[in-house]
Amino acid sequence: MNSTRTRIRAGAVAVALALLAAGCAAGAGRDGGVVHGTPGAAGLRDPYFPKLGNGGYDVGHYGLTLSYEPSTRRLTGKAEITATATQDLSAFNLDFSGPPVRSASVDGAPAAVNRAGNELTLRPRRDIDKGARFVAVVTYEGVPKTITDTDGDEEGWVPTSDGALAVGEPTGSMAWFPGNHHPSDKATYDVTVTVPAGLKALSNGVRTAERKTADGRGVTSVWHSAEPMASYLAVLAIGRFDTSTTTALGGRVPVLNAVDPTAAAKSAGLLAKVPGILAEQERLFGPYPFSSAGVIVEREGDLGYALETQTRPILPVSSFNSPTLAHELAHQWFGNSVSPASWKDIWLNEGFATYGEWLYEERTAHLPAQKSFDHAFVNDAVWDFPPAEPPTSEDLFSPPVYQRGAMVLHKLRQRVGDATFFEILKGWPAKYRHGTASTRDFTDYAESMTDKDLSGLWGVWLYGDKKPAKP
Ligand code: ARG
Ligand code: ZN
Repeated sequence: MNSTRTRIRAGAVAVALALLAAGCAAGAGRDGGVVHGTPGAAGLRDPYFPKLGNGGYDVGHYGLTLSYEPSTRRLTGKAEITATATQDLSAFNLDFSGPPVRSASVDGAPAAVNRAGNELTLRPRRDIDKGARFVAVVTYEGVPKTITDTDGDEEGWVPTSDGALAVGEPTGSMAWFPGNHHPSDKATYDVTVTVPAGLKALSNGVRTAERKTADGRGVTSVWHSAEPMASYLAVLAIGRFDTSTTTALGGRVPVLNAVDPTAAAKSAGLLAKVPGILAEQERLFGPYPFSSAGVIVEREGDLGYALETQTRPILPVSSFNSPTLAHELAHQWFGNSVSPASWKDIWLNEGFATYGEWLYEERTAHLPAQKSFDHAFVNDAVWDFPPAEPPTSEDLFSPPVYQRGAMVLHKLRQRVGDATFFEILKGWPAKYRHGTASTRDFTDYAESMTDKDLSGLWGVWLYGDKKPAKP
């Protein structure tokens, strides 16, 4: 009995301490209202990046206003984040590894700011009710960081010879704007960027304005992404670029390409192929998911890899070849419209985009997908681990995810036959259009499309540890 009483009292003390810690008089909120909110989670427990993303809210829109000065490498930013609370919130986190924060507000009232590692915590003056829409504004200024991934690739903010690039797969976007940086929280974007006159700033979606600043020393470009985008697919390319426009898909989709002038001559022929590849992929994968398109071609040495940034992939000129272009454009369906539910599902991006390459070569280079499969089969590196189970974040972009991921699809094609396979290839991006999906969602979907038992196929090709005997 005594011990029970002690326990109760200890419990009451703990509650009072928690309330004090939250800056409240017992039972009353800071604004005099009743305390009801709790802090949103600092992460979404992604298997590779547990702190990536945040709980307690869902972002609907990012409005980013940025200016960049290449000579000093200083970025000035304002992020206006419109979100809906999914719980009563006393505080919430944003992922941010960018420059010092100057100010923060929620719904117009100053918010308290705390930074620890990549977590930026905002504590609004009043708790936010579950279901309420709110606007968080964060301003920041300084020199943003380049992130070197565990696999050695650079992402985040990458200064170049004539400007900078912002690329974010898998976790680099937090280097240049605060947000909910897990692919499961997609949002629309408006990005306004000012750079010195003579340079250009390219981003995703449609360019709705490009104008000189009042003093004539800068140029401001405004970009609009109407369809939801995972933050890792946001791009910014600042530098000297030759831009050109055309249309694709029967005039329905405006195309804006940007090429580093040193790469212009070499790139022209392939850039002209963009509308044709999109038309062919639309035939294979179903309606193109976005309302704009294009490509950014970077000068050699500025970026070590190609990335399928939404609506407008970015490729270093050395990777600007037709299979890689087909790969990055295929990602618009696989990865960008249907995004991975967690980073464990990365083969749904890379395996499908690689199969997109194989299909492109099947049609244009008369290289049957079976030949690409055979070629992959004898590559020892594809057997390092099963595509659905990359052991660490270092493995997310390695051969088992790409080639063996594509091999899974080729085996599926053999098992269900071309007619059903191509129905699946169209039906999958239709079913999860502008959403997120997991490996399980895919295997369930494929099974729903055939009477054949696919469990053995998944067991060997998607989850199996061992290289099977040559099929
Ligand atoms: N998704 C890119 C592709 O199209 C590769 C990105 C590699 N990124 C990285 N941080 N290693 O294949
Ligand atoms: Zn890819």
